Amino acid sequence: MQIKVSSANLEKQSADALVFGLYEGEKKLSAELAALDKKLGGVMAQSVAFGRLSGKLCEYEAFHAPAGISAGLIVVLGLGKKDDLTSEKLRRAFGAVCRALRKSKAALIASQLLGEGASLSASERAQALAEGAYLGLYTFRRHITKKPDYAEITCVMLMCDASDVSIVNAGIETGRIMAEAAILARDMANEPSNFMYPADIAAVAKDIAKKHKLEITVMDKEEMAALGMHAALSVAQGSAQSPKFIIMSYKGKSTASVDLALIGKGITFDSGGISLKPSDGMGDMKGDMAGAASVIAAISAIAQLKPKLNVSAVVAAVENMPSSTAYKPGDVVQAMNGKTIEVISTDAEGRLTLADAVAYVNAKIKAKHIVDVATLTGACIVALGHVASAVLTNNQALADRVLAAGKKTGELSWQLPMFDEYKEQNKSDVADLKNVGGRPAGTITAAMFVGEFAENTPWVHMDIAGVNQSDKEHGYITKGATGIPVRTLVTLAQDMALR
Ligand code: BES
Ligand code: MN
Ligand code: ZN
Repeated sequence: MQIKVSSANLEKQSADALVFGLYEGEKKLSAELAALDKKLGGVMAQSVAFGRLSGKLCEYEAFHAPAGISAGLIVVLGLGKKDDLTSEKLRRAFGAVCRALRKSKAALIASQLLGEGASLSASERAQALAEGAYLGLYTFRRHITKKPDYAEITCVMLMCDASDVSIVNAGIETGRIMAEAAILARDMANEPSNFMYPADIAAVAKDIAKKHKLEITVMDKEEMAALGMHAALSVAQGSAQSPKFIIMSYKGKSTASVDLALIGKGITFDSGGISLKPSDGMGDMKGDMAGAASVIAAISAIAQLKPKLNVSAVVAAVENMPSSTAYKPGDVVQAMNGKTIEVISTDAEGRLTLADAVAYVNAKIKAKHIVDVATLTGACIVALGHVASAVLTNNQALADRVLAAGKKTGELSWQLPMFDEYKEQNKSDVADLKNVGGRPAGTITAAMFVGEFAENTPWVHMDIAGVNQSDKEHGYITKGATGIPVRTLVTLAQDMALR
C-alpha cells in the first residue's frame, strides 16, 4: 500500500471513498461537508440532528456519493472533541475506518489531512494517519492458503494545502518507517514457533542488518559458554534448537560509546520446561520473543531515521523445552557476571536469559543506558491488564523518558515501584539469588531480579506480557501480536539524541 499526498480538491478525487473529519460537539457541518450535503439533500445534517453522527472518536457514517461526484462513498469520521485531539486519537480513528473501508471493497481512499484546527502540526497529523492506516490494515496471512475475501487497499491519498506538501510527505515517511518496524515485530511474534526458532530470529536480524547497514554479531552456544552465560544456556539445554546470542549496533555519531542498549527477551517458545505450563493457551507462548522482535524492529527504524546517538540491540534467543537434558527445579546456575541462581521454576526462564544479556551489555558494551523489554510475568497482566506495559527502573530520569515516549506513541506504560523491601523475596538459601520470588508482586520481584544484573547502569525494565498480544481488533490494533512497544523505543532513541 502507498500513502501519497496531494494538494488537489478532495471532492474531485475519483477514489472509492472520501474521508472527512467531524469533531464531537460541533453542531454545524464544515463548509466542505455542507456543500456536499446540499447535493445529498441534507441527509448528513439530518444524521447529525438525529445524533447518529455524533463526532465521537471512531464513529463514522458512509453515504453514497451524490451525482456529479466521481468518488464512491463519502465517509464522515468522528474525531472526538477538537480541543482533546491527539496523534493517538487520529491513529485509532483512521486505522479503524481504513479497515472498515477495506471490508466495503475500497481500494483507493482519499482523505482530508484530518485534525485541522487542533493543536497538532501538519506533519504530526500526517505521521499519525500513516501509522493508523498501515497498522490498522495489517494482516498475518502467511500460512493461510485461501485468498482473502477483500481486496487490498492500494493507495491512501492525504489532501493538504499546497504549502504543506513537503512537510506532510516527511510526516508520512516517518509514519511509514515507524509502522513498518511495528509490523516487522508483529510478523515475527505472530510466526508460529516452528518457523521462528533462535536461528530464525538470528536470520531476520542479519537481514535487517544487511538492509540498513548495521553491525551484527551472532554468537552460538560455544561462544556463549566461553563467556560464561550459563544462566541463558541452562534454559536452552532442554531444546534441540541451539541458542543464538545476537548483538546489532547502530552508529549515529562518531564516538565509540553506546548511549542506549535495547535488550529483548527472546524465548521462541516457552513451554515452561520441566515446570511445564498447562496446555490451555500454551500456543500463545510462541509470542514469548516479542521483546526480542521489538528491539530488532526498533533498531531497524532507528537505522532509517538516523538519530544522533549510538544504539545496540541485544537478544539471547532460546527455546524453553522439557526433555531429559533440560534444566530442572533445584538446579543452581551461574550467570556471566559470576552471580549464582537457584532455579525454583524452569518457567521463570526469561529472567535467566535477561540476566546474561544484561550482564553482557554491562561487561562488553558498557552502554550508558539499558532498556530491556520482556513478556516476563503473568502477574503483569493481573496488575495492568492488556492496557499498559509495566515500567520499573533504578533511574527515574530514564523511566520518565520511557513513560513520555509511551504517551506520545499511544503505547501506554505505567511505573511500578522497586522498593528495597522486595529484595528479600529473591534471596536463596543455596545461591546468591533464586529465580522466583513467590506470588506477591510477581512483576516487581522479576524486575528486581533483572536489576541485580544491571547494577549501577541506568536501566528500565518494560514488562509487556499484557500488551504484546490482542485478542480483538480495535483502532489500529489487529488480532494477535501488537508490535508494542516498538514505536516507544524508537521515540525514546530520538528523544535521547536531542537531549
Ligand atoms: N512468558 C511467561 C510470562 C507470560 C505469561 C507472558 C502469560 C505472557 C502471558 C514467563 O516466562 C513465565 O512463565 N512467568 C511465570 C513466572 C513464575 C513461574 C514466577 C508466570 O508469570 O507465571
Ligand atoms: Mn515461563
Ligand atoms: Zn517466558
